[in-house]
Amino acid sequence: MIWPFTRDSRVAPKQTLVGEHVAASSAADALLAVAATLPDPFLVLDSEGIVILANRHAREALDTDPAGEHISATIRAPVILDAVVQVVATGEAVRTDYERRSPLDRRFEAFIAPIARPGQDESPRGTPAVLILLRDLTRQQQLERMRVDFVAHASHELRTPLASLLGFIETLQGPARNDDRVREKFLGLMQAQAERMRRLINDLLSLSRIGMNAHDRPSTLVDLAIIAEQVCEMMAGIARENDVAIETSLPIEMPVQGDHDELVQVIQNLIENAVKYASSGRRIVVSGLVRQGVLNGIELSIKDFGPGIAPEHLPRLTERFYRVNVQESRSRGGTGLGLAIVKHILNRHRGRLTISSEIGEGSTFTVKLPTPRAPPAPQ
Ligand SMILES: Nc1ncnc2c1ncn2[C@@H]1O[C@H](COP(=O)(O)OP(=O)(O)O)[C@@H](O)[C@H]1O
Ligand SMILES: [Mg+2]
Repeated sequence: MIWPFTRDSRVAPKQTLVGEHVAASSAADALLAVAATLPDPFLVLDSEGIVILANRHAREALDTDPAGEHISATIRAPVILDAVVQVVATGEAVRTDYERRSPLDRRFEAFIAPIARPGQDESPRGTPAVLILLRDLTRQQQLERMRVDFVAHASHELRTPLASLLGFIETLQGPARNDDRVREKFLGLMQAQAERMRRLINDLLSLSRIGMNAHDRPSTLVDLAIIAEQVCEMMAGIARENDVAIETSLPIEMPVQGDHDELVQVIQNLIENAVKYASSGRRIVVSGLVRQGVLNGIELSIKDFGPGIAPEHLPRLTERFYRVNVQESRSRGGTGLGLAIVKHILNRHRGRLTISSEIGEGSTFTVKLPTPRAPPAPQ
């Protein structure tokens, strides 16, 4: 069978599987139902290249309803048209990449295959002959790019302290070999760099561990009020060193479904940030709220009275490695991963983080978690 690949064949078919002339056969109904269910763009052509079926995803991806049109009017890419001709000529399926520039840049993998019709060498006009299945690779590519960027960023962050460690080692082996004073000083600096690397690796490992469990919501019942009290006690030392007072105003009980250690990490990160970046406010208020009714859930806020954060930074703070001031963060032992870890932990808990801030007034970081599915078991 030769594909009649001319513009003349752009005549509207007598019947399409979509529209009012739907063939009443149960096979056609089944095909329509399958096409509608498929998560990807799906087209069926007849032996003359007329689109006789296009599901919703195909109409969206192609930005038009191609039913009744010749395929060359909808997809102008030669890779697809050549592949369709080849499929018809050889009866063999073909896979190819397909890029579409408008309305948006999108990349697809196209699977084009002949539709077998037992007992028939040729499909009559208007009956299914070729299927085109497109798989959208755009999101996958974006994720891949994010992953590559992340690895590049993480490597760069690790390389900086490593380079200075190597520099110190070289100096200690060479010019400062016999200088006790310089050696003492350098060992202190080297320790600080090594600790920075350790913090980074710990944070990277935390992120990857949380990422691995991202889809399973913790099921154990914990009390966020108790966890918050414990973290405040843990942070008392560093708060004192920074001349910051931690005040608490927590309900008696804040039951949530959660992973104890991860929730400790969330509150610790937020209090540590408030102590590090907002010590000028001299105090931090950790308060809790149990909401009943439609808005039910639990809220824990960490409020500081520091310099505040400019609005343009707020939506980006939970991005990995995003810092308002990289030097300030580094000098305070930051990695830029704290709030990314907080966000990922809260996602896993079906919760979220909201940030409000006013320059010169301070910032409030609020953790919202849903109420547990089952009421807490009596003790
Ligand atoms: N309470 C706060 N007040 C002012 N700035 C803050 C506060 N909390 C976080 N930030 C800003 O958000 C950035 C990202 O925080 P985070 O992800 O914890 O990274 P890190 O603390 O390691 O730098 C910080 O570098 C800082 O610029
Ligand atoms: Mg932090």
